[in-house]
Amino acid sequence: MPLTGKRLLLGVTGGIAAYKAAELARLLVKRGADVRVAMTEAATRFITPVTMQALTGQPVWTDLWDPRVSDAMGQIELSRDRELIVIAPATADFMAKLAYGLADDLLSSLCLARRCPLIIAPAMNVEMWQNTATQRNAARLREDASIAFAGPAAGDQACGEVGYGRMSEPADIAAEIEAQFAPKKLSGKRVLVTAGPTEEPVDPVRVITNTSSGKMGYAVARAAQEAGAKVTLISGPVALATPAGVERFNVRTADEMFAAVKKAAPKSDVFISVAAVADYRPKERSPRKLKKMNGRPVTLELIQNADILAYVAGMKNAPFCVGFAAESEDLAKNAAEKLKKKNIPLIAANLAQDAFGAEDNAIKLYDRRGAHDLGRGPKIELARKLIAHVAGKLPKSK
Ligand code: CTP
Repeated sequence: MPLTGKRLLLGVTGGIAAYKAAELARLLVKRGADVRVAMTEAATRFITPVTMQALTGQPVWTDLWDPRVSDAMGQIELSRDRELIVIAPATADFMAKLAYGLADDLLSSLCLARRCPLIIAPAMNVEMWQNTATQRNAARLREDASIAFAGPAAGDQACGEVGYGRMSEPADIAAEIEAQFAPKKLSGKRVLVTAGPTEEPVDPVRVITNTSSGKMGYAVARAAQEAGAKVTLISGPVALATPAGVERFNVRTADEMFAAVKKAAPKSDVFISVAAVADYRPKERSPRKLKKMNGRPVTLELIQNADILAYVAGMKNAPFCVGFAAESEDLAKNAAEKLKKKNIPLIAANLAQDAFGAEDNAIKLYDRRGAHDLGRGPKIELARKLIAHVAGKLPKSK
């Protein structure tokens, strides 16, 4: 069984999805896990500790001052021997506590005193999920390398509204838990990722750029790091936090990106080129701010930038190269052409109108043999699938 003997702590907080925590506990026990449950006071209003106790065969913990813990150090003792903590459901309030390191009840204290990774399965009303405060807290939590998210999912909500915020199904959360225990597929590998747009200066205040947010590239860097790789991220100008454990270099122009990649590529086993590199740059960069031409048309002469990916793919002892193709149509045909033109083994294709700036994406992988659909979902989930696919293509480490 996939979770045999794994020591888990299931934390349940007070939301209507707490009833699904019972199903999750059952699933985890069925898969062989040793499940200890801690509930917040609010959670006990939705589902009784007796239910969780019956399903796990273990006493349930709710109180920071529980006399069963002999030396009143419950928050340390109860989490110390655990290999993973899962909070399902995690309310907006509990996420806020986690983000700020508050510890005013048993479960939040356990989380703060933990030495193990934490999985959060958020569950709340769509407006609460979308609220800037919650999004800010979620972004903060995602920066923490020891925290992973399971969901939330989109769909009908208990309150009658529809949208993101619903807790992921117990089976999906269980899959996420199993993934945490899976062997690290890229340990010992060095992965180089480019992300974001580039900026090509026209004059001191104007640039040619594109609307790439960098989110996909950052998700790929994070997924590779989670899979045990040593990751170098070369990033164009974006407003994103560096994924924990990733080494990041900032660049602005395609030329700067090219130089940084040239330096890092020979040391890399994998190169994933997610950046939306400008294909062209102005031939001349005016040292002074350009003036209006009194109604006359202006012509900007552009020259082509180097193709960074094609260069790396052509290197002696080239790393395993993965391209990203953002297309507005004809995914399959264009992907096949780019595989050949850039001489790379794998390309991830998405529709540009879906991908740029959005949280979700839909990706299809193409190699010489055909297509492999990664489906649609949050960028981090697609990134993890991509990394798993790439890991399967690499020669085994010595
Ligand atoms: N790429 C690159 N250097 C460039 C342009 C693109 O490394 N100067 C990489 C991108 O990071 C991406 C892949 O090439 O991984 C595909 O980029 P895309 O712009 O879609 O392809 P092009 O070859 O530029 O083809 P076209 O613009 O004609 O669609």
